[in-house]
Amino acid sequence: MRAKTQNPSYSLTENPMQPITEREQQTASRPAGALESGPLVIVGGCGHVGLPLGLAFARKGYQVELLDTSAERVALVNSGRMPFHEDDADELLGETLKAGRLRATTDNRAMENASAIIVTIGTPVDEYLDPSVGEFDRSIDQLLQQVRPGQLLILRSTVFPGVTDRLARQLEQQRRGDVDLAYCPERIVQGQSLIELERLPQLIGGATQRAADRAADLFRIICPKVIFLKPVEAELAKLFCNAWRYINFAISNQFWVIANQFEADFQHIYRALREDYPRMASVARPGFAAGPCLLKDTMQLGAFNHGSFVLGQAAMMINEGLPYLLVQNIKHAYPLNEMTVGLLGMAFKPNSDDPRSSLSYKLRKVLLLECRKVLCTDPFVPDPDLTSLNDVLERADLLIVGTPHDAYKGLKFRQPVIDITTTIGK
Ligand SMILES: NC(=O)c1ccc[n+]([C@@H]2O[C@H](COP(=O)([O-])OP(=O)(O)OC[C@H]3O[C@@H](n4cnc5c(N)ncnc54)[C@H](O)[C@@H]3O)[C@@H](O)[C@H]2O)c1
Repeated sequence: MRAKTQNPSYSLTENPMQPITEREQQTASRPAGALESGPLVIVGGCGHVGLPLGLAFARKGYQVELLDTSAERVALVNSGRMPFHEDDADELLGETLKAGRLRATTDNRAMENASAIIVTIGTPVDEYLDPSVGEFDRSIDQLLQQVRPGQLLILRSTVFPGVTDRLARQLEQQRRGDVDLAYCPERIVQGQSLIELERLPQLIGGATQRAADRAADLFRIICPKVIFLKPVEAELAKLFCNAWRYINFAISNQFWVIANQFEADFQHIYRALREDYPRMASVARPGFAAGPCLLKDTMQLGAFNHGSFVLGQAAMMINEGLPYLLVQNIKHAYPLNEMTVGLLGMAFKPNSDDPRSSLSYKLRKVLLLECRKVLCTDPFVPDPDLTSLNDVLERADLLIVGTPHDAYKGLKFRQPVIDITTTIGK
């Protein structure tokens, strides 16, 4: 049976490069050969994407080498300690190291015997919110010098549209068509990779038919289903995912601002419009939409759409402007310049230890201009400038929830609490 899709023109489970009779590419049992000629090497393997991915393959009994330029992370991983929090990862790291199935290294020679190489290095935007391609390009150029005939090279970092086809052309010009190239994006919620990798389908964008087949065989080891796209479609699909989520958060944040302008209680409205009304079930709670991916990927899409991704740009102004608007609202109700304000939660999302691009830090900057003193706390983020929760609760006149960690739920506060997500404050 062919999978049913909403798009009648083609099924997403089909490999568009294959004749229709061969397109039944749904879930398969463990494929032979995907990693039989050598280990899997993950470049950027000690990062938030690379490490859980490596653990997922090692858990299935395969040999994994984590290649990373950070000697500090490599040492941590080899000593059995996760450099960041990831659900279910601590024990698995110890087990796979002990079994000799996982190893981290800074030595590029690890790639020599690999049957497959997956690239998960960072792809940041620069200070003008344009993709900062220099370092990524240098790393990829270096990598292309090192890949060998017959190896499968998979890009998994989030890249701007067209990168995979450009690399395929580069390989072709260098007469290195014997390297199989594919783009296979990561669409996992950070912190829950080991759970979600086993549940969610994997998008596969092979530069050639053979590359698509090989990449699919590889990912079938850890994923329940693969979905074939052209490389540029897979690149866009990843960016669309994050831009859609970012815009979705922006709508709620904009509604929150509008409700405030009318002095209406947004939470009353939010609860009422969702109650027994499934069409509004997907409305996000207002709050800080931040982190290493959502803004960056929305901006990547904007930068490569001739600057005309107006919805994305509007979402950025709303989401990034929220800390300032929040403080302006609070100023009407409290004499901030006479107060010590405690900021709860500095990670970019609840229950995470990752402060990258967290809007709590932007909120802190705005508060520093307005308040007598600002004290910040987070149970997970390792930042020497933070204060203990007890100290903040003791000294602050007013609390603002930046990141609603579960650890704050159920606490009794003696001072007023402002929590626009109202998962904690009310
Ligand atoms: N974090 C997420 O939830 C997430 C989700 C989907 C996609 N992505 C994308 O995945 C990519 C990686 O993100 P991340 O959060 O894992 O970043 P990260 O900074 O946590 O990890 C990147 C790792 O690559 C290493 N590295 C950098 N240059 C290297 C090189 N030349 N050779 C070997 N190692 C190198 C770094 O030391 C680091 O350990 C980005 O493109 C990001 O947009 C991230």
